Amino acid sequence: MAEFKKSGEAVADATPRTTGVDKVDAATETAAVAAVEKPAGRGEPILQVRNLVKHFPLTQGILFKKQVGAVKAVDGISFDLYQGETLGIVGESGCGKSTVAKLLMTLETATAGEVFFKGQDITKLSGRALKAVRRNIQMVFQDPYTSLNPRMTVGDIIGETFEIHPEVAPKGERRRKVQDLLDVVGLNPEYINRYPHQFSGGQRQRIGIARGLALNPEIIICDEPVSALDVSVQAQVINLMEKLQDEFNLSYLFIAHDLSIVRHISDRVGVMYLGKMAEIGTDEQIYDHPTHPYTQALLSAVPVPDPSAREGRERIILTGDVPSPANPPSGCRFRTRCWKAEAKCAEEVPLLAVPERFKGQDTPAAHESACHFAEEKDVVGAV
Ligand SMILES: Nc1ncnc2c1ncn2[C@@H]1O[C@H](COP(=O)(O)OP(=O)(O)O)[C@@H](O)[C@H]1O
Ligand code: SF4
Ligand SMILES: [Mg+2]
Repeated sequence: MAEFKKSGEAVADATPRTTGVDKVDAATETAAVAAVEKPAGRGEPILQVRNLVKHFPLTQGILFKKQVGAVKAVDGISFDLYQGETLGIVGESGCGKSTVAKLLMTLETATAGEVFFKGQDITKLSGRALKAVRRNIQMVFQDPYTSLNPRMTVGDIIGETFEIHPEVAPKGERRRKVQDLLDVVGLNPEYINRYPHQFSGGQRQRIGIARGLALNPEIIICDEPVSALDVSVQAQVINLMEKLQDEFNLSYLFIAHDLSIVRHISDRVGVMYLGKMAEIGTDEQIYDHPTHPYTQALLSAVPVPDPSAREGRERIILTGDVPSPANPPSGCRFRTRCWKAEAKCAEEVPLLAVPERFKGQDTPAAHESACHFAEEKDVVGAV
């Protein structure tokens, strides 16, 4: 049964903090809980990620395990999530997106770096304050077929988090609360006693969303929530998520491997490559004025339905595989596949910043891009 307990809350609360957290006194803890529970104002940074690192040790030997290296899944990432916005995070499979999600959910312990939720560093919290953070940051998982326990009814799946947070729904009210949640996500409240296999993929993802909403969180991390669904169903689920965002004042971190999926829902987009952020900006900046070669390559591969927009469009085909995160290239990680790479790219790590040439200019190209030679290129963005 344990393998199906993927509800972020259930797993997170069962995951004890083992490292990096000192005992705090009661007054400090009470102050941290108060800060976490105070609703963030619209447009304020609700989550601030600073130089976040997660290295998974690579070991050799059976009895005496020796560390022989590390998978640098996330290697120094910084970004903000503002209250009420949707930040899309995009990148190829294996670039570290799910690891970022797990770090924000405190399901993984960070190797280094900080994650501030309303000013409190969640990598250092424990006890009541950590529990309050975990209630406020929930997750919707990618695969609605494997993330719901087939032996539990929908009512139990959605309601199980109330066991850990009885303050949200006391015992006598849980059934009605679950039925309300089913109604909110567009499912018949009478389905409460059904099992996951009695639902379609889209309906199951609605159940996953209801579970994510159950504790009235402020942030929902959506890890490829529509990637496993048919294209026709994807739009319905995304529309539902947009509606819920307004209704419940939510902030979304929306992870996808495809730039076309996140455009519709995102206010800003961050593009990840091999454990680092390559470029981040508003959707107009990223889709219409990308300056990082990786973003430009990803955009050039997105199908464009309008034939006139297709004309004269350059398709950038990346050669070579994504290098291993256990042994990333020196300098710029993208250099082994970049058509613009020069000697400097192997020597100096490009920082994520507004490029010098665009600084102070009133142009959409003036946004953060981690490239020594950032410049605009005419690639037609996703629709
Ligand atoms: N628990 C783990 N132990 C070792 N390596 C891991 C673990 N989880 C993820 N990785 C590795 O970290 C890298 C990033 O993985 P992940 O965050 O799942 O990427 P994405 O979600 O972008 O596909 C991959 O190379 C993956 O194999
Ligand atoms: S820093 Fe160099 S290798 Fe990296 S993206 Fe820019 S031009 Fe390409
Ligand atoms: Mg993933």
